Amino acid sequence: MYGMKAILKGNSKNSRKCFGHGYLSGRYGHMDGSYRMCIRCVRMVVFLSLVTFMFNSGPELLWLFSTGRMPPLGDSELLSRGLTSQGYIRKVLPPSWPSVSKALLEESSPVYRRELLPKELNYSSLRTDFPTEGYSNPLNLATGVKIYVYDLPPKFNQDWLVDSRCNSHLFAAEVAIHRILLSSPVRTLIPSEADFFFLPVYVSCNFNTITGFPYLGHARELLQNAVQLISKMPYWNRSGGSDHLVVASHDYGACFHAMEDLAISSGVPDFLRKSIILQTFAQNKHHPCQDVDHIQIPPYVAPIQVLQRWPPPEQHVRNIWAFFRGKMEIHPKNISGRIYSRGIRTTIWRKFSHSKKFYIKRKKSEHYQSEILRSIFCLCPLGWAPWSPRIVESVVFGCVPVIIADDIALPYSHVINWNKISLTVPERDVHKLDRILQHVALKNLTVIQNNLWKEENRRALLYIDPMVKGDATWQILDQLARKKLAMSENLRLRL
Ligand SMILES: *[C@@H]1O[C@H](CO)[C@@H](O)[C@H](O)[C@H]1NC(C)=O
Ligand SMILES: *[C@@H]1O[C@H](CO)[C@@H](O)[C@H](O)[C@H]1NC(C)=O
Ligand SMILES: *[C@@H]1O[C@H](CO)[C@@H](O)[C@H](O)[C@H]1NC(C)=O
Ligand SMILES: *[C@@H]1O[C@H](CO)[C@@H](O)[C@H](O)[C@H]1NC(C)=O
Repeated sequence: MYGMKAILKGNSKNSRKCFGHGYLSGRYGHMDGSYRMCIRCVRMVVFLSLVTFMFNSGPELLWLFSTGRMPPLGDSELLSRGLTSQGYIRKVLPPSWPSVSKALLEESSPVYRRELLPKELNYSSLRTDFPTEGYSNPLNLATGVKIYVYDLPPKFNQDWLVDSRCNSHLFAAEVAIHRILLSSPVRTLIPSEADFFFLPVYVSCNFNTITGFPYLGHARELLQNAVQLISKMPYWNRSGGSDHLVVASHDYGACFHAMEDLAISSGVPDFLRKSIILQTFAQNKHHPCQDVDHIQIPPYVAPIQVLQRWPPPEQHVRNIWAFFRGKMEIHPKNISGRIYSRGIRTTIWRKFSHSKKFYIKRKKSEHYQSEILRSIFCLCPLGWAPWSPRIVESVVFGCVPVIIADDIALPYSHVINWNKISLTVPERDVHKLDRILQHVALKNLTVIQNNLWKEENRRALLYIDPMVKGDATWQILDQLARKKLAMSENLRLRL
């Protein structure tokens, strides 16, 4: 073990000499040239293969080999949770997901239980399988609500689903909410008795063929066309759209743009100014994209994967100390490194990617979710927007979210006590991340994890289909029910 440590030490010095200061600033991606420049780099290759081998065997091995000891957690509770030496050998976990999720899935009322939808959605075929009588409240909301879902031509929604990513990517809440409402007991087929109207337009599914990123340029027009179409019925005009629901599940929500400056200069489209926007974007301070009646919703994480594929978070061996995988701008001279993530991700990369306690990766990996399950802290720095699906993924997989995004507002903070289940690190303190996490690991980790692993937290952040009490869609309905109560209260006061 000690010998291994010496080899690693010796070679990392050489590697610095070989690549010189230019390594990070310009040579990334041109390693061949660098190799020729320096004979000692043969040893570098050996070193790199060793590192690659060890990383493939898991960061814990690298940690163990390079330090010759256990991760410095120092919390006896933690060690008793499986971070003992056996913790480094991956536990064989039962293939099926026991008790919690099954109970969760079975809890849904038989009234609106139905077979899983076929791949080709035929919404009209679903119209008859729920009751419409009276103001019953089978979901136990603050009060009964009824929602009319407009039946728009497929070019506004279904047609976008030809790309299967639309059903599951981080913006897929627009699809999930629509689908879940269609089969939920709050849906009414009689618009005149509805409290709210849902406008099912999918705007985030337009993937750019070159970059692969969702493109929003068409969103305003598509929505406007939809509004024009439904204006043939009396309900939009009647209220100016104020009882109408629109999902804006992408970066800057109601502004329908992915870049903050352009989002702000475009603002909320005039025709949507009175509507209720269900959006993932939210800040605690004033922001033009929040200048509209809105409900903050969590970004979409596929519940099936969480509930059926993985064991509950408390059953997992956590042998990665601090984890991040995602886009990082690493060229110090690249202007986007300063703009993107306000430079936070670049700082994390520069300061901690070489630290043994941090497991920081830039490439996509199919093991992403299992990595979160194996991690104690999950870094959730801002990207283009302050929110990211990482926050949801961390909670549902039981990894303490370390939120680095000043002024971010967190979803459903009226039911999820974020202070008790996550850490917030101010952007200006990101360079001290290691010390902050170390401090928390020693002092409060067990308490935070016990709070975090409560089932109601992950339930509130997942769009379970069919809906169950307390899940992400239910929380939206409950807030709508409260709006309805408040509106009738106002009306009563005015009379
Ligand atoms: C959808 O379902 C309805 C009712 O079951 C049926 O009449 C209609 O033909 C179906 N449409 C398509 C496109 O399959
Ligand atoms: C609602 O208003 C729009 C625009 O003013 C108009 O074109 C439309 O006919 C109106 N709809 C109804 C049902 O009156
Ligand atoms: C900066 O980074 C972006 C994205 O990673 C890349 O497309 C661009 O070419 C880079 N610019 C420079 C000057 O390196
Ligand atoms: C962590 O512990 C300190 C002191 O024991 C306490 O003041 C603080 O509230 C705790 N934080 C959390 C998130 O539990």
